[in-house]
Amino acid sequence: MFIANWKMNGSQSMLVRWLEGVNKTLDKSLQTKCILCPPVCFLSEASKVIKKEKLSISLGAQNIDPSNISPLTGGIDGAMLKELGAEYVVIGHSERRKVFKEENQLLSEKLESASKEDLRVIFCIGESLKEKEEGKTISVLKKQLEILNDAELNNFTVAYEPVWAIGSGETAKLDDIEDIHRQIVDEVRSFKKESFLGVFYGGSVDSSSSRQILSLKGVQGLLIGGASLECEEFCNIVLTNNQN
Ligand code: PGA
Repeated sequence: MFIANWKMNGSQSMLVRWLEGVNKTLDKSLQTKCILCPPVCFLSEASKVIKKEKLSISLGAQNIDPSNISPLTGGIDGAMLKELGAEYVVIGHSERRKVFKEENQLLSEKLESASKEDLRVIFCIGESLKEKEEGKTISVLKKQLEILNDAELNNFTVAYEPVWAIGSGETAKLDDIEDIHRQIVDEVRSFKKESFLGVFYGGSVDSSSSRQILSLKGVQGLLIGGASLECEEFCNIVLTNNQN
């Protein structure tokens, strides 16, 4: 699977052009492997274009608010995201953990909000450079994963995104990615959740690195930020990884 995480970028016209490009470049079977997560304000337009042009790409939201906190000015819960056309939702992205101090308690409530509406969760985890240098990567990841144990979830994936690799042009070493993915899979499997679909990698992935990363054991998909904004580059990533 290939997730395009646009973050706080794009416009309605860019969205339409991007979807047109995807429709021209990727056949339907490849489109089914793609999830576009645009800013929430463009979800409804994306959903309209997808229906009208009969695209097979899915939509995801980049964030969700807990449905148990009400009233909540500015809040958008799972039911609203669903109505806008989202099937997936990203929870726990490091940018939100850092900027909005999103921690396990709040993230658990977000998981609940998603599960109430059958949204499929893409749960992001990752260590900072300092934590990596202090040898704390696995303990940090386990702490972040902990809340999945108690959550009732529909189909979900974990996205491993080392914080120092996001938007930096640096990707983790291939051996490290494989080893860390294996440990994440073991940890989540120990929670005995049948709805666990695997671990994705993210952090400065582009068409020059995607093939090698996706060929690693335990890497089920890619979460792509900056490189997903250009339709051509995003499609190249999808196409390159499907060549034999
Ligand atoms: P990046 O972002 O590909 O620009 O590093 C990935 C992400 O934050 O999801």
